[in-house]
Amino acid sequence: MTKKPIVVLLSGSGSNLQALLDVTAAPDFPAEVVAVISNRPGALGLTRAQNHGVPAITLDHKEFVDRASFDRALQKTIDQFSPELVVLAGFMRILTPDLVNHYQGRMLNIHPSLLPKYPGLHTHRRAIDAGDLVHGATVHFVTTELDGGPAIIHAEVAVEPGDTEATLARRVLSKEHLIYPLAVRLFSENRLALNEGEVWLDGQRVGRGGIRYDT
Ligand code: GRF
Repeated sequence: MTKKPIVVLLSGSGSNLQALLDVTAAPDFPAEVVAVISNRPGALGLTRAQNHGVPAITLDHKEFVDRASFDRALQKTIDQFSPELVVLAGFMRILTPDLVNHYQGRMLNIHPSLLPKYPGLHTHRRAIDAGDLVHGATVHFVTTELDGGPAIIHAEVAVEPGDTEATLARRVLSKEHLIYPLAVRLFSENRLALNEGEVWLDGQRVGRGGIRYDT
């Protein structure tokens, strides 16, 4: 089986990358991680890639004069690996519209909230402060709207009395490690597509919020 090449972009720990490396190692998984790129030198995600024998590249945004020149270098680096899918896994940079449009329909992100609630940072704190009973994570296609692209899959997580940001984050992250590999699998099996701003799975339009992941 020919596996689809994926490039993963990250800035930090890379626990979602690890989940992807673990599932893609199975011979029948339809995709493989061919490169990992971090904008932060020393990110743990780079070590995870190296431990897996995957090229780990640092592209430090601080070495570029502006966002546009960084993004041009990033695009060039990504495209050297000819990926069919680009996966953002804790990549803490806002991308220019040029770069986002270049990967339209083939760039995914995971966000730790039930989008469209809580785009941006500190999602767990905001959910707790709002008194939400349900929180979660969403995988979505990347568009030029920050954390605003069409949702593919979401997983819900109950907010428990006494939850702190850290305890809630841990439970949300464990769901992320399930739904991100699933989205990558569906995409790599050509079952998932972005058509005119809407998500399609197996030829059917997926409703707003994306598929609900149950377990
Ligand atoms: C996750 O919470 C993800 O939803 C967000 O960034 C975090 C990355 O965590 N986009 P990790 O680096 O994969 O552990």
